Amino acid sequence: MPDALYVRDAFARIADRYVLTNHVLSCGMDIWWRKVVTARIRKWKPARLLDVASGTGDLALEIQDQCPRCEVIATDFCAEMLAHAASRGIAKTLVADALNLPFPGGGFDVVTVAFGLRNMADYPAALREMLRVLKPGGRLVILDFSLPGGLLRAPYRLYLHHVLPRMAGWLTRQRDAYEYLGGSIEAFPAGTAMTGLLERCGFVESHATPLTGGVVSIYEGTRPAL
Ligand SMILES: C[S@@+](CC[C@H](N)C(=O)[O-])C[C@H]1O[C@@H](n2cnc3c(N)ncnc32)[C@H](O)[C@@H]1O
Repeated sequence: MPDALYVRDAFARIADRYVLTNHVLSCGMDIWWRKVVTARIRKWKPARLLDVASGTGDLALEIQDQCPRCEVIATDFCAEMLAHAASRGIAKTLVADALNLPFPGGGFDVVTVAFGLRNMADYPAALREMLRVLKPGGRLVILDFSLPGGLLRAPYRLYLHHVLPRMAGWLTRQRDAYEYLGGSIEAFPAGTAMTGLLERCGFVESHATPLTGGVVSIYEGTRPAL
């Protein structure tokens, strides 16, 4: 599992170029992926939402715009990343480790984590912490990379391990942070491995939705009602 000190330092180093680099490397698809997540959440009309590992706040901003009645709180353990979220207009930000969230239990209708869980040092501990802060009946939504199947898998791996680190190194001057990305995606549970993990951590009604041929997936889990 990823080393927390390395992860925090790597994101601090790329914080200034993170948003642009994401858009270039995903050909703008990351904007659409976050819109798909937000459209789902909007239907639930949440009153209070926590975006964990919010980084530069891309998902939190989209939710804040699309759900104006919802109180959106963005947290991340990398102050350099979260400073961008605040300067881009996220009203409530808090530097916090996802493994030890500074909130009492049962306070959020929805918890989101986009491209964040994969970078955490202990996936089950992080998921249990997200479960704790959800209200009974509240939902967790995870957006993260997975690996496409079939004919797409080999060319995608070539892109991920050879093309992407070079392009990102050129854009950010921090190539090692993007060499780490490919390994983290390979090691991250996907599909039924992730829904099984969600169930073992106490969530119910978990399910997965692959997008863009499986390059990313949305996972949902619900905290059991009382
Ligand atoms: C790839 S970025 C994702 C940022 C944003 N959610 C997005 O969709 O672009 C991953 C973020 O996870 C954060 N992170 C990793 N481990 C964390 C932890 N244990 N607690 C809080 N944040 C963490 C990093 O600091 C980084 O900002």
